[in-house]
Amino acid sequence: MIKKICCIGAGYVGTPTMAVIALKSPNLEITVVDSNKSRIDAWNSSNSYDFPVKEPGLDDIIKEVRNKNLFFSSDVEKHIDESEMIFLAVNTPTKKEGEGKGFAADLTNIDECAKQIARVSSSNKIIVEKSTLPVRTAERLKEIIKKHKKNDVTFEIISNPEFLAEGTAIRDLFKSDRVLIGCDQTEAGLAAMESLVKIYKNWIPKERIIKTNIWSSELSKLASNAMLAQRISSINSLSALTEKTEAKINELSLAIGKDHRIGDKFLNVSPGFGGSCFKKDILNLVYICRQYGLEEVAEYWHQVVKINDYQRKRIFNIVNSTLVELKNKKISILGWSFKKDTNDTRESSSIPISSDLIINGASLKIYDPLAEKKQIIQDLTTYLESKDLSLKEIKSLLSQVKIQSTLSECLTNTNAIIVLTEWDEFKQVDWQNNKLNTSQINLPYIFDTRNILDIELLKSLGYEVFQIGNGDNTIK
Ligand code: NAD
Ligand code: UGA
Repeated sequence: MIKKICCIGAGYVGTPTMAVIALKSPNLEITVVDSNKSRIDAWNSSNSYDFPVKEPGLDDIIKEVRNKNLFFSSDVEKHIDESEMIFLAVNTPTKKEGEGKGFAADLTNIDECAKQIARVSSSNKIIVEKSTLPVRTAERLKEIIKKHKKNDVTFEIISNPEFLAEGTAIRDLFKSDRVLIGCDQTEAGLAAMESLVKIYKNWIPKERIIKTNIWSSELSKLASNAMLAQRISSINSLSALTEKTEAKINELSLAIGKDHRIGDKFLNVSPGFGGSCFKKDILNLVYICRQYGLEEVAEYWHQVVKINDYQRKRIFNIVNSTLVELKNKKISILGWSFKKDTNDTRESSSIPISSDLIINGASLKIYDPLAEKKQIIQDLTTYLESKDLSLKEIKSLLSQVKIQSTLSECLTNTNAIIVLTEWDEFKQVDWQNNKLNTSQINLPYIFDTRNILDIELLKSLGYEVFQIGNGDNTIK
């Protein structure tokens, strides 16, 4: 019976998953470790405002279990050695250099964990792959461990990918559609899997726990993300056609989604999917397919990412052509996080769209309820650096950007308002009052890339509005 768990990686996955396991399994002692000491210090802060991940419901759970059966530590080796089960929840970004650059997953962090575990373990361990990994990573980990282990300790690797979505992580963990566990079909593998099943059974009904071989489990995670992202690219691609044909994308989503074989989820039009995973996981899938010589399959999935880039570019082009000349135009960006209810801005569509606007001369006012000012500036800087701009040019472009601390500051004295994240706060704007407050002769154009505003109300107040995929737009 497992008593002590160590989770390597105190990020968006490691902390919420361990917090929920700790809450549901009071007899387990769980320590979340990370090589980033300031991240661990932040999780140990007495003020939840300092927590590095903002996720509805997470603060309350941490307050309840922290220092009872959930601990945060930067002493990685000690907790690896003391635990019976070790979760790997480290980041697996896209490779920036070397073989597979721009497509393959960078497994440096995972490899480092395997080496460290092999080196410091003085007792048998079950290693759980929680990070999203290419199919057959367990094979690679076994090789690394074999090379670095020092004594007779045994290691059993199982796969347990995480399916939570940010913004709803706690809800997703409490009521998972499924928990997937894959293992080697050996006596030791099956026993390791059962010890994890036992933990999940504390709150997940047993029919929702899916047991597979280890390769199916690893690949199911990449395939799930690819299929979710594919739905978004499908609806976003159709939004270009509905705009041309006077159809409405929301009506299309409704009509299509009513077919229970298709279902109504993940059919919301958007400025393109963001987040740290969809793009990297699909590119990884593309790479794996190519490695196995499956060029047509690779190209099929690559299109999902290409349509996402197309949608972002399309939005920039619509704003650009509406305003005729971007130079000296003031534009308000509503939303920086990649979706509502999270402070995570990784791969947010706000980043490329805003960058293209400033490169073309616009001045921006940006407001997001959770994303921090320094993060927004960092995101823009990193993106502009990737465009090979000099430091001087980047500095000058950033001088065109102002981060606002309230929404109302963002809504007045502007030529255009672009809604890029679907925050509830943006749905509650009093546009009637805002119209009275604006000192401008011309009302700003409104570009609603999430289709969350009441277009009829806005039209009746005299605003010119563009909603993605809406054939009734007043801006054509
Ligand atoms: P993250 O960047 O938020 O957290 C990863 C943490 O791991 C960081 O704090 C980093 O310092 C730490 N780390 C990296 N290497 C380390 C090492 N060798 N030793 C100790 N600590 C180390 O990443 P995340 O968003 O939590 O994602 C983690 C994994 O989970 C990825 O593979 C991702 O694809 C997958 N995933 C993410 C989500 C999500 O919603 N973010 C959902 C499902 C799956
Ligand atoms: C996604 C998956 O939903 C999770 O199951 C998975 O565990 C996770 O990736 C991961 O592996 O990291 P996440 O990226 O947190 O979760 O959030 P989603 O709700 O999937 O949204 C991703 C992006 O797609 C956001 O930018 C969102 O605005 C966009 N989206 C979502 C749409 O454009 N339309 C939709 O209908 C739904």
